[in-house]
Amino acid sequence: MNALDLLLNRSSQPRLQAPAPEGEVLENIMQSALRAPDHRCLTPWRFVVCTGKGLNRLGDIFQQAAILADADEAVVTRAAQLPLRAPMVVVAIADYKEDEKVPRVEQIASTACAVNAMQMAAVAQGFQGVWRTGSYATDENVKRLLIVNPRTRFWVFYIWALLQLSHCRNPLECHSSFSHFGNNKILTNK
Ligand SMILES: Cc1cc2nc3c(=O)[nH]c(=O)nc-3n(C[C@H](O)[C@H](O)[C@H](O)COP(=O)(O)O)c2cc1C
Repeated sequence: MNALDLLLNRSSQPRLQAPAPEGEVLENIMQSALRAPDHRCLTPWRFVVCTGKGLNRLGDIFQQAAILADADEAVVTRAAQLPLRAPMVVVAIADYKEDEKVPRVEQIASTACAVNAMQMAAVAQGFQGVWRTGSYATDENVKRLLIVNPRTRFWVFYIWALLQLSHCRNPLECHSSFSHFGNNKILTNK
């Protein structure tokens, strides 16, 4: 797939279907994350690729967190099922590293870029993905059970085989998101 086509046509796909990416395809997805912009090369991320019984293990962690939070029965039951909506879930963890020049927000930005790169690498190879967070993404008990630094935040990124390749989207309206500083004048939202 042409790189510009990829950038102009990316979209999330809510339908989940096996198989998950594996082998070289998965390796390419993981490698693309490591190419994300990373100020001072801190690698401020960790990723947990969950498939098969690993999805149940992640569901158990969500469920334990729900129990510890005294959630009602329906929430506790649902918690275990959440990761089972996809054949692969990549937990993306923004793993903050203390650094005098790189604040936390930059490290979270790097992790977000890495997740985006993985989604793009998935689409480029005929797969799809969607970002998901929800309350478990910042739950202290989930963090503890995943054994991550308590200052971290994580996103859950689902990835699965695509039923059909992304359809072409119409160009989006840019003006409300971009301003232009040019040679002649400053154009603001026009
Ligand atoms: C950090 C982040 C977290 C997100 N969490 C959720 C979520 O928990 N549930 C959800 O339905 N969409 C979530 N989204 C939005 C979807 O992943 C998706 O981007 C959105 O539905 C728009 O679709 P599109 O990507 O095709 O434009 C999240 C997006 C980001 C960037």
